[in-house]
Amino acid sequence: MNKMFLLLCAGVIGMAIAAPSVPCGVPTVQPITNRIVGGQVARPGSWPWVVLLVDDLGYISGSGVMIDSHVILTSAQHFEGFGYNLFDLDLRLWRVYAGEYNISTTDPHEKYYHIKRVVIHPGYNITSLENDIALVITTQPIQLNDHTRPGCLPDPSTQAPVGSVCYLPGWGGTATTGNEEVMNQVDLPIVDDSICQTHFPDYLPNTELCAGYENQHKDWCWDDLGSPLMFKANNGAWVIQGLASSGGNCTTADEPSVFEDISMYTQWIRTTMEDAGYPYQY
Ligand SMILES: *[C@@H]1O[C@H](CO)[C@@H](O)[C@H](O)[C@H]1NC(C)=O
Ligand SMILES: *[C@@H]1O[C@H](CO)[C@@H](O)[C@H](O)[C@H]1NC(C)=O
Ligand SMILES: *[C@@H]1O[C@H](CO)[C@@H](O)[C@H](O)[C@H]1NC(C)=O
Repeated sequence: MNKMFLLLCAGVIGMAIAAPSVPCGVPTVQPITNRIVGGQVARPGSWPWVVLLVDDLGYISGSGVMIDSHVILTSAQHFEGFGYNLFDLDLRLWRVYAGEYNISTTDPHEKYYHIKRVVIHPGYNITSLENDIALVITTQPIQLNDHTRPGCLPDPSTQAPVGSVCYLPGWGGTATTGNEEVMNQVDLPIVDDSICQTHFPDYLPNTELCAGYENQHKDWCWDDLGSPLMFKANNGAWVIQGLASSGGNCTTADEPSVFEDISMYTQWIRTTMEDAGYPYQY
């Protein structure tokens, strides 16, 4: 597609955008926020910005988080890694499920969407996993309702300090609840970078966040890749602090894990959204 066409599109769509119809980070069903050993099954609809990504062969690739009715923020590893890259994938066959809860059935609120385009961070490194972030642009607008709503990007006033308890929703059996067909959640505190530096010599403290436990048998699993680490800010809205990137091992679950620190990427996200014709609205 040529650049002129993109610019024209961006201009036209930009003008047509009205005020957002729902706020970001405000679910109509309150998530469970008591902390139990091993995590737990999430309430249906309580993390309405979390979407399920299904690949061209019908397998679960992981999760992502909706930040606009056309834009999903997720891990670049879904699309590029050792032996595969964006240009070899048949993106037309991928599906983005919004309003998803039980993957074994068609939930009353679930609906799937197709992918128009994926923008991988230009500095993404498949070896170090530096800049492991990507934006997925859907072909159709995702319909917003009580079970499908955007999450908020962080800003300096909604940043979670070390010690804050965050929640990671996903379908990876995150929680070892034994019920992996429905959305699970696990509570993970943000811990000091030095803890991840001890466990993972290639940890990147400038752009990554360390969260989790050293000995509590709580962690995430591979299918949670790209799931958002959510923090409830003082203003009551749920904010995306991190994206599950590496170190998740629900078999051993004896180490914290590594998240992309979304506060370090808000400028790139905003610019990329604007270029795609969907400027961030919150
Ligand atoms: C998920 O859906 C399957 C298939 O309909 C059903 O057997 C199962 O009980 C559901 N799980 C939950 C936790 O609702
Ligand atoms: C990617 O990361 C690896 C491992 O840290 C490093 O050796 C390599 O130079 C990096 N590549 C680029 C293009 O920065
Ligand atoms: C989790 O840890 C176990 C034990 O060290 C290892 O065998 C397994 O490959 C790890 N799983 C992942 C997904 O890294």
